[in-house]
Amino acid sequence: MSKINFDNRVAIVTGGGNGLGRDYCIELAKRGAQVVVNDLGGTGAGLGQSKSAADNVVAEIKAAGGRAIASYDSVATRAGGNAIVDAAMAAFGRVDIVINNAGFLRNSRFEDLTDEQLDSILGVHLKGAFYVSQPAYRIMKEQKYGRFVFTSSASAMFGHPWQTNYAAAKGGLMALSNVVALEGLRHGIQSNALMPTANSRLSGEMHDGWTEVTNVSKILAEVDFATVNPLLVPEANTPLVLYLVSERCKATHGIYSCNSARYARVFIGATEGYVANGGRIATPEEIEANWSAVEDRARYHTPQSVYEEFLPVVQSVKRAKQT
Ligand code: NAI
Repeated sequence: MSKINFDNRVAIVTGGGNGLGRDYCIELAKRGAQVVVNDLGGTGAGLGQSKSAADNVVAEIKAAGGRAIASYDSVATRAGGNAIVDAAMAAFGRVDIVINNAGFLRNSRFEDLTDEQLDSILGVHLKGAFYVSQPAYRIMKEQKYGRFVFTSSASAMFGHPWQTNYAAAKGGLMALSNVVALEGLRHGIQSNALMPTANSRLSGEMHDGWTEVTNVSKILAEVDFATVNPLLVPEANTPLVLYLVSERCKATHGIYSCNSARYARVFIGATEGYVANGGRIATPEEIEANWSAVEDRARYHTPQSVYEEFLPVVQSVKRAKQT
């Protein structure tokens, strides 16, 4: 197996100063990428700022003979997003890879969630990804090449109590990635959403209050963490991310999960479903009576656009018209 390398590729990693982003930066640089280590340098709750987070990673890369620059702009403003991409262009002259990874947590019960908790989380995760990725996309379109990773979360795809703000933002990133993938394909631009997992400083922001939601905390108590704890490290996510942003990867429009070094595709599907006899509009009672067919996941479709959903639907309606 020849080694995946990033010679002559320029990568922007937001939130590259700690945790997962730090490891992406170091491994990308080891494999030849020129890296923009972007980090605002605040706490796990997104408070304060400092240059040291990005500077330390750049120093580590340079000490190992790699090429990197630091960027301290916040992704959460339009000006910050532009400045991060401008810094990549000024230092390295192109942008091939954007890993949208910056973020923090401000958890709360749904009914107690404040505007500040909502706006700050949507701002850093969701709007931040727009602000960095739009200027980068324009450059990638000119280059006819680009790779995006948008960092989503199992909290969005599967659910986590006390994270309505975070899950909504992370779900939005999955949607953003899907559409960037559709529009980018003809320009050589690929985009995938990542659901990473690792013990990081964000674990310290999870607090215990949410365990009041006993249907979820009961499952938590059942998990044998002793088996997976050694694998719940940032480094376990890096191989998947590096593959996704490599030239060799042809996958786009996907959602991929890394959990304890288990790498998997996560997908959204529609069941075969139920169409009333004769291919007509069903009554609520008919839907109730056929609920098992609506729910039956034995057969399903995974449409890759709004219009692709119509293809199996037309077949189902045609079949029902015969009945
Ligand atoms: P981390 O806290 O170690 O790293 C996040 C970095 O983002 C920090 O260095 C922080 O300073 C930076 N950052 C925060 N706001 C910023 C801003 N406005 N502009 C630029 N940089 C900013 O956290 P971790 O665990 O490495 O998380 C990385 C990403 O992965 C986050 O988006 C997180 O939501 C996501 N994630 C993490 C999971 C985990 O299990 N650790 C699970 C699912 C998703």
